[in-house]
Amino acid sequence: MDQKTLARKLAELPLEAVRYFDSTGSTNQEAADWAQAGAHDLSLVVADEQTAGRGRTGRKWFTPPGAALAFSLVIRPESHAGLEIRMPEQSKAPLTRLTALGALATCDGLKTYAQARARQVAAQIKWPNDVIVNGRKLAGVLAETAWEGTHLSYAILGTGINVAPASLPLAEELTFPATCFEAALGMPVDRWDLLQRVLAALLARLPEVASAKFIQAWEDQLAYKGEWVQVSALNPAGGSEIPIEGQVLGLNTDGSLELRTRSGKVMAIHSGEVRLRPVDRTGK
Ligand code: ATP
Ligand code: BTN
Repeated sequence: MDQKTLARKLAELPLEAVRYFDSTGSTNQEAADWAQAGAHDLSLVVADEQTAGRGRTGRKWFTPPGAALAFSLVIRPESHAGLEIRMPEQSKAPLTRLTALGALATCDGLKTYAQARARQVAAQIKWPNDVIVNGRKLAGVLAETAWEGTHLSYAILGTGINVAPASLPLAEELTFPATCFEAALGMPVDRWDLLQRVLAALLARLPEVASAKFIQAWEDQLAYKGEWVQVSALNPAGGSEIPIEGQVLGLNTDGSLELRTRSGKVMAIHSGEVRLRPVDRTGK
């Protein structure tokens, strides 16, 4: 791939600008640097390889060359209803919705790609930021923000999708089983067609990111509904908070995850800084 060809492939999308890298540290970092230098809303960074791809709380995201999709979109919240955040309120809801937008658009893109080839793929969202297929992680989303005082200056919405088998990290580096789209589909995948589809879905859903319709679409793709999961705080310092176990009821209107615990208490998990795992399905 090269800059010109990619720009041509994505020309129908309402993107502001596109930058392509054969290799970079992290597309989220490239996009953040670009935003700092004045990149407009809907500027896109795409890389074939990331040498310092990142996940949440400093975790690493593996993106070897020729095998995956790694891209990041600059989002200026003032251009989109429902994404404005005021620091004093400390509401994480818009950020959680943005992460969901990346995950939902990835599910959409995977599905339309499969349908166009008379196949199906059962992609679901593992709340808050992963796309799973057959119980394995196929893609991850990382939304990062930059503030100017109390004003959210921009958000970077980064997505990594495992396309070919070479995109998978070694098993011992995984905290959750992984898979790739080619394995799920059983055929070679055109990465750039997939990218176009995911971005088209993302841009189509962006204007409705704060709507009830969006939450419904997200809930429709939610993994583990009715099943038992364990949710623990992600603590980079390695703390020892007690995990919460509950049955997934669905999403609340603000995108928080609704669980019913063993004692029957219904609770909402708000923070995206959590790790979710399925547990014994009987809950015993
Ligand atoms: P999870 O719930 O999936 O374990 P997490 O909360 O521990 O996620 P994330 O920041 O969401 O961590 O994801 C980063 C983790 O994903 C890494 O620590 C690594 O284990 C795993 N990982 C890294 N690269 C890939 C990849 N290409 N495909 C699948 N998993 C990956
Ligand atoms: C996760 O599951 O932790 C999220 C991983 C997000 C990875 C993507 S790849 C494109 C963008 N650039 C990064 O450095 N990270 C995100």
